[in-house]
Amino acid sequence: MKIDTEKCIGCGECIKECFIGAIKLNDDKAIIDKRRCILCGHCIAVCPINAAYSDEYDMNEVKEYSEKDFNIDSETLLNFIKFRRSIRRFTDKEVEEEKLLKIIEAGRFTQTAGNQQDVLYILVRKKISTLRDMTIKSLKNLGDKILSDSQNSNPIFKKYAKMWLKMYEDHKIDPVANDRLFFNAPAVLIVAAGIQVNADLASSNMELMADSLGLGSMFSGFFIRACTDNKEIYDFLKVPEGKMIYTCMTLGYPDVKYLRTVPRKKPNILNM
Ligand SMILES: Cc1cc2nc3c(=O)[nH]c(=O)nc-3n(C[C@H](O)[C@H](O)[C@H](O)COP(=O)(O)O)c2cc1C
Repeated sequence: MKIDTEKCIGCGECIKECFIGAIKLNDDKAIIDKRRCILCGHCIAVCPINAAYSDEYDMNEVKEYSEKDFNIDSETLLNFIKFRRSIRRFTDKEVEEEKLLKIIEAGRFTQTAGNQQDVLYILVRKKISTLRDMTIKSLKNLGDKILSDSQNSNPIFKKYAKMWLKMYEDHKIDPVANDRLFFNAPAVLIVAAGIQVNADLASSNMELMADSLGLGSMFSGFFIRACTDNKEIYDFLKVPEGKMIYTCMTLGYPDVKYLRTVPRKKPNILNM
């Protein structure tokens, strides 16, 4: 991150904005301490004369704010969130490359702790059926383990264990007709990161982007359960050391039309 000292008017806006205190004034010009800077770009976003820039990022990506292009009406946003559904019925239509990239773009611009930008996007299309086979096998093994463990009396675990064994049997008969893992979605986006919340936040924004593109998605907790401690799946997906898989979202065109939103529990709010 740098400041063009020719342009800098020494207004101090970047200094006020830099929460880690990496910028100071020197002869009425802002200078950045590279060792402290976390490359968050707030100095770029706030500078009134556009004097801050970076060699590390593509500066052509920076967009000037305009109310028309950047604002969303809050009622519309809330309705959009309320109308989103987990999709388990997909058409055969492939998802266009541009749409997948736009979804990942929504993930890329989501905030990360300490601006680490440590999120890895694993886009599975051609190898979905292999991944499904591996996952269902892993769930079967987990199910067997839970049911044979006499110490484990948790009814929820047992319910899932039985469901996974049934999934495995049905999968053997017809893996496509009985796909209750990815529901025959044409794309599966797996998100790994160093820190879980970074993957989760990016995934949430990506789901909204998918919806806005006319697509549908569903987070697969079954997949996450199956790949936890499963080296085979990690190797298959080429997840590098230091990252863990935190979310898995199916993507495709919905083969269902919803006519209204759904009800939900009242919020649990503690006022202190
Ligand atoms: C973290 C997470 C994991 C989920 N895992 C699965 C899953 O493995 N299989 C499935 O059919 N649905 C799964 N779902 C979808 C939930 O069942 C769904 O979000 C919930 O029933 C509410 O429906 P809605 O998403 O349409 O509002 C998951 C959702 C979340 C947020």
